Amino acid sequence: MYFPVYRPRRFRRTENLRRMVRETRLSVDNLVYPLFVMPGKGVKNPVQSMPGVFQFSVDRLLEEVSSVVELNIPGIILFGLPEKKDETGSEAFDDNAPVQQAVGQIKKMWPELSVMTDVCLCEYTSHGHCGILEGSEVQNDATLEVLAKVALSHARAGADVIAPSDMMDGRVAAIRDELDENGFDQTAIVAYSAKYCSGFYGPFRDAADSAPKFGDRRSYQMDPANSNEAVREVSLDIEEGADMVIVKPALAYLDIIRRVRQECDRPVAAYNVSGEYSMIKAAAANGWIDGDRVMMEVLTSMVRAGADLILTYFAKEAAALLQNRRAE
Ligand code: PBG
Repeated sequence: MYFPVYRPRRFRRTENLRRMVRETRLSVDNLVYPLFVMPGKGVKNPVQSMPGVFQFSVDRLLEEVSSVVELNIPGIILFGLPEKKDETGSEAFDDNAPVQQAVGQIKKMWPELSVMTDVCLCEYTSHGHCGILEGSEVQNDATLEVLAKVALSHARAGADVIAPSDMMDGRVAAIRDELDENGFDQTAIVAYSAKYCSGFYGPFRDAADSAPKFGDRRSYQMDPANSNEAVREVSLDIEEGADMVIVKPALAYLDIIRRVRQECDRPVAAYNVSGEYSMIKAAAANGWIDGDRVMMEVLTSMVRAGADLILTYFAKEAAALLQNRRAE
């Protein structure tokens, strides 16, 4: 049936007609808000390259989490900065480090909030790489033991979900074993399975103070040119026990989100990373685009591509906007 009998514009005429045939719905249920925790007291440092994002000490973090809960956002993911960095990132598994303390206090105040923790070493190592070095090489297997200790320490603090973002081979299995051996069989693993070596992480490295001091992450993060490899990485992580998988970044990798959704049987999360956030913020601040509108368009595209969950610095703004809409 073709024009003039069929006219697709008929269902675009009014908002109510558009609502009736809308295929994708972004909901607050899809959103997870990333937060950065620092040592100290009374700290709320703006991150220059990420307007609206801050580094918090644990006490100030609780105020922020309270506003997240208020907006009915179902989960947060925590990134920690240490007091002191060293060669092996040992503060990452210190039970009294900022992330561990934050998890404990948050779960005490809001037991229902889903608390995820990022497990990686780059914030904690003096060299800024995601693993243990020998010379200038990141050592895969030696790193696994440390990651497992970090995950256990987060689980002990009360994290619901452990999210390893280091991209070492075999880390999901190492973490699953460690958690199970210690009685944390209910702690979930959301693996950054398809994590690309991306220029879009720039602003995050300011926020988490995690830029590598030499070289880059190409020997462990994925080549942006690869798609089959993403499916392979995801399959391996599922074999090893991942309960959910992450594709990261999101915007330049919507095809990967789609493929993983179709080819793998686990929930899929998209990480709408720092550079994707900052680009929109910068263009909006210059008056070049309508920031709210582009934010919603971008988040909707991730759901449309197949993401079940979106980790995004926009979570609070999007949740607020969604609420106003509903109230209209
Ligand atoms: C740690 C980690 C990174 C991000 C999440 N976990 C940075 C990196 O790999 O350098 C990036 C998140 C973002 O850009 O928002 N490995």
